[in-house]
Amino acid sequence: MIDLKDVHLILKGPSGPVAILCGIDLAVEAGTVMSVVGPSGSGKSSLLAIIGGIERPTRGRVVVCGRELNGLSEDELARFRRRHIGILFQAFHLVPSMTARENVALPMELLGRPDAQARAAELLAEVGLAHRMDHFPAQLSGGEQQRVALARALANEPDILLADEPTGNLDQATGRAVAELLFAVQARRGATLLLVTHDLELAARCRRRFRLDGGRLVETTAHTGALKPERTLAR
Ligand SMILES: Nc1ncnc2c1ncn2[C@@H]1O[C@H](COP(=O)(O)OP(=O)(O)OP(=O)(O)O)[C@@H](O)[C@H]1O
Ligand SMILES: [Mg+2]
Repeated sequence: MIDLKDVHLILKGPSGPVAILCGIDLAVEAGTVMSVVGPSGSGKSSLLAIIGGIERPTRGRVVVCGRELNGLSEDELARFRRRHIGILFQAFHLVPSMTARENVALPMELLGRPDAQARAAELLAEVGLAHRMDHFPAQLSGGEQQRVALARALANEPDILLADEPTGNLDQATGRAVAELLFAVQARRGATLLLVTHDLELAARCRRRFRLDGGRLVETTAHTGALKPERTLAR
C-alpha cells in the first residue's frame, strides 16, 4: 500500500540546502494503522506530503496504492490524491465561504459525482453532525470543524487516510473524541491510517509505531505488548 525506498528530501534554506529526510524506507500493508512521532521540525508533515503526492522527494522511490508517484505529472498527482488519499490537518483547512455540507461535497463534485450533496449529508451524519450541515466553519466549534474535515477526507472513499496532528488544535476531551471517531471510521472502512501526533497515548494505540528523528524513520513497535489473540480467546 505504501512503499518508500531510500527517500531523501532536501529543501532550500536561507543559507543553503537543508536535509530533511535522509533515506527513509517504509513498507506498509493495506489496512494498517500506524503512527509517526518525532520532534517539531523532524519532517513528519513533509513525509506525509510525499506519501500523499503533494511533495516530490529529492530522490528515492515512492509507490502508493500500486502507483509509482515519481513518474506522475502534476495533473496525474492531483487525480491520484482525489481518488486515493484523504487528508486531515491540524488546522482543519475548511473553505470558510462554504457550509459544512458544501465542504464535504466539494471533493466529490471535483470527481463529477452526481450524488455529492446527498452523500455529503450521509457523511456528516456519520460523524455526528446531521444538525450542523448548513453551518459555515466560523459557526462551528473546533471539534465540529475537525469532524467536518474528517467527513470531507472520507468523501471519495480513500485507501489511505493521512492525519497530521488532527487533535493538535483541540482541547484534550475534544481531541480524544475526534481520535475515537477517526479510529472508528478506519475500523469500519479498513482504510490505511497514518497518524502523526505528539500525543504518545494516541500513538501507542496504533498497531505499528514509528519515530522520525534526524531525518531517519525508526519503527518502535513493541513485538510483545501488541495483539495477543490467546488472551482474548481465554475470556
Ligand atoms: N519550503 C521549505 N523550505 C525549506 N525548509 C522547509 C520548508 N518547509 C519545511 N521546511 C523545514 O523542514 C523541516 C521539517 O518540516 P516539517 O513541517 O515536515 O516538520 P514536522 O515534523 O511536521 O514539524 P511539526 O511537529 O512542528 O509540525 C523543518 O525544519 C522546516 O523548517
Ligand atoms: Mg508538522
